[in-house]
Amino acid sequence: MRLIIVVGARPNFIKVGPLVPALAEAGHEALLAHTGQHYDALMSDVFFADLSIPEPTWYLSVGSGTHAVQTGKAMMALEELFVEEHPDAVIVVGDVNSTLAGALAASKLHIPVIHLEAGLRSFDMSMPEEVNRLVADQLSAMHLTPTVEAGRNLVSENVDEVRIHFVGNIMAESVLRHLQGAKDRTARERFGLKQGEYVLATIHRPENTDHPDRLEHIIGAFADAPLPVLLPVHPRTRPVLETHGVGAATPNIHIVDPVGYLDMIALQSDAAAIVTDSGGVQEESCMLGVPCVTVRRNTERGITVEVGANRLVQAIRSDILRGLAEALNGSREWQRPQYWDTEVSARVVEALAGGIVPPSGLEGA
Ligand code: UD1
Ligand code: UDP
Repeated sequence: MRLIIVVGARPNFIKVGPLVPALAEAGHEALLAHTGQHYDALMSDVFFADLSIPEPTWYLSVGSGTHAVQTGKAMMALEELFVEEHPDAVIVVGDVNSTLAGALAASKLHIPVIHLEAGLRSFDMSMPEEVNRLVADQLSAMHLTPTVEAGRNLVSENVDEVRIHFVGNIMAESVLRHLQGAKDRTARERFGLKQGEYVLATIHRPENTDHPDRLEHIIGAFADAPLPVLLPVHPRTRPVLETHGVGAATPNIHIVDPVGYLDMIALQSDAAAIVTDSGGVQEESCMLGVPCVTVRRNTERGITVEVGANRLVQAIRSDILRGLAEALNGSREWQRPQYWDTEVSARVVEALAGGIVPPSGLEGA
């Protein structure tokens, strides 16, 4: 099949890392269209290098903007591309604005949409990602799910079961494939940190960055944490931290630029615990056996809490510190969720081999 895979933001690149070679090996022509949603070298190029992802065939230079501007620009550019290239199907991954743009542009051109990481739900419509997931899933002809629960969510939204394929978590496959390469890195030494003697943190969700009171609680908790906190800072978060006067001089918090994928896996793996609001980091910490504290009102990655790897806390200083103490003192052993393994991309190939059920109304078109 001739497939176009839409990517745009940091977590997208990681999801296609294992997928592209698996599709090529199975004889598909799988080409990448990079919308340019993320464009800094440390938010984009570094992942192509670390994960040996082929250069995108198309780079659409969409850049930053409001949701409508960013999604609209991406739709316009992708529509033109799909009309010229007429792929057999379009693959979208995850839940970012580029995912939504790809799904909308393709489905209106009657090109089947395949969604990898379908069915995750936070049931929180204040999250832009939840809107993106819901719409992308309603438009998709094939749903590739990371968990059993994700499949159930889709069924409850009237998605026909023949369209749902439980393939497992592609982020897990990526971690497992790169763990050894990551371990060869000396990332923590570069930051003067010792194995098991620091906390790794990432914060970038608007629910935290765009609410000064919540951000102050989070930073307060980091300042009072029992171990130094390494915070590779997302470009959305950096200016907000600066506005709050949090900088290099804040004791106990080491603010650094975003790090590449292999460094990030190494830093997570060597941490005593992780504090995050990232979707991908919740999953990776679960794979790496490092306890995680998620600072959010809810999580679509509930499976990580269920298995005992993760705990959800509100953005309140004392709650975060309590969660961190629990993570530092609790068990580091849990069972990985089903199909969070190295065979996810192989299951995607298998699902494709079974054929795509055409979108309703387009049978025989
Ligand atoms: C996006 C996704 C979010 C995902 C995150 C991964 C949406 C709605 N959100 O959020 O789900 O978790 O990516 O990291 O798609 N910026 C730069 N350089 C870059 C990219 C962004 O400076 O290379 C800055 C810009 O000021 C931009 C801001 O970060 O306005 C936010 O970027 P954007 O892509 O709109 O959203 P994210 O917060 O990155
Ligand atoms: N990540 C990274 N460097 C960083 C922060 C995150 O490589 O400085 C990786 C992280 O390990 C995971 C992915 O980026 O693989 C998650 O992306 P992000 O948190 O930006 O988005 P989300 O998963 O929340 O949508």
